[in-house]
Amino acid sequence: MPESTCRICGGVVTMFLDLGRQPLSDVFPVEAPAPGEEFTYALRVGTCADCTMVQLLDEVPREAMFGEHYPYRSSGSSVMRAHFEALAKSLLAGELSGRSDPFVVEIGSNDGVMLRTIAAEGVRHLGVEPSSGIARTAAEQGVAVLTAFFEVDTARAVRAEHGPADVVYAANTICHIPYLGSILDGVAELLTDDGVFVFEDPYLGDIVAKTSYDQIYDEHFFLFSATTVADAAARHGLELVGVERLPVHGGEVRYTLARAGRRTPDAAVGELLAQEAAADLHSPATLRRFADAVAANAADLVALLERLRAEGARVVAYGATAKSATVTNYAGIGTDLVEAVVDTTPEKQHRVTPGAHLPVRPASTFAEPYPDYALLFAWNHAAEILDREAAFRAAGGRWILYVPDVRVV
Ligand code: SAM
Ligand code: TMP
Ligand code: ZN
Repeated sequence: MPESTCRICGGVVTMFLDLGRQPLSDVFPVEAPAPGEEFTYALRVGTCADCTMVQLLDEVPREAMFGEHYPYRSSGSSVMRAHFEALAKSLLAGELSGRSDPFVVEIGSNDGVMLRTIAAEGVRHLGVEPSSGIARTAAEQGVAVLTAFFEVDTARAVRAEHGPADVVYAANTICHIPYLGSILDGVAELLTDDGVFVFEDPYLGDIVAKTSYDQIYDEHFFLFSATTVADAAARHGLELVGVERLPVHGGEVRYTLARAGRRTPDAAVGELLAQEAAADLHSPATLRRFADAVAANAADLVALLERLRAEGARVVAYGATAKSATVTNYAGIGTDLVEAVVDTTPEKQHRVTPGAHLPVRPASTFAEPYPDYALLFAWNHAAEILDREAAFRAAGGRWILYVPDVRVV
């Protein structure tokens, strides 16, 4: 069985799921590259025998993923805009209130979706964002941004220039970063003595329960749980003091870390740790069952699409998500099964999806004319999309969902 060295503790990571060779999930070529010309890497997932952290075996160089042309725009979802505004307001009313001249740092601030609420209140802040295109978008909206990868040296430089941070925040970013030790050391350098590090990422418990294997791709290096985050934090002088399960992006956990011994952990921390232990979340048997369910899910989806093709039905996908690169390239879903994918992101439109090379069309073309079936790649935004596209079902169209299992609704 393939192995690698744990990025947290140096232990042996053994593979439990092989998702094959995959393209970069967020690089949308202008047209289908010639065979062999597209960059690919091995997408293999394993768990550490010592600290149980679930992680990829192979690391894609960060500059290949995050740069000027990184296309993801956090503000593309109204639910996520509301989610980040609510989080910013709760920080302003909670952790930041009563502090004199507080300072907030966000790691992976993207288009400024969270920090613009902090900026509007005149609170000192800094986004650290290596993808220069979106960093500019945030700056144009009055958000202070440093175009850089966050790591321990960046943290020292930020502290030297701006002083310590009361809150360091990150969403859907920390799980992207293989050098987690450097991040935690940087946070420990940057925080005030009683500051907190709050971050939210897809939750291993949800991924296993929902067979949402499309949460695994180049950018999602770690699949976190309370157990493994608590362990990693403790190795860097930090302590897990809060956890909150979130419904967004298919199920996440918001973790709060403080300096070890500074705060009493919430009861929710012990409860989630106990739940994970009772469910045997990290055991090889659980992860092997997950891998079997992944193979069955992909086979079911292909069987459905092949049946629809035989019936002469038109199938278009909805949402050119990074996640869907894993599904299309693992299951083998190309233009023979799915005509195209619609998406609202201008940076993805009139290009083709990574690896599978499905043409990406503006979402405004969805009704011109409606397909018979729409395969919902952006299933994590189902409520928002099914609501906006209610006319599709009313016109007789049907959605294909594959999380937690393959079905037509
Ligand atoms: N926080 C936003 C959200 O939740 O929608 C953006 C999430 S996006 C999936 C991940 C972001 O992390 C990208 O904007 C990427 O450029 C950024 N990123 C990747 N590595 C980083 C690092 N080492 N330091 C700071 N940001 C990083
Ligand atoms: P995400 O699942 O990583 O957030 O990506 C969602 C993708 O789906 C992104 O490319 C934007 C696209 N999208 C739409 O096309 N329409 C929508 O209503 C929403 C919410 C997202
Ligand atoms: Zn380990």
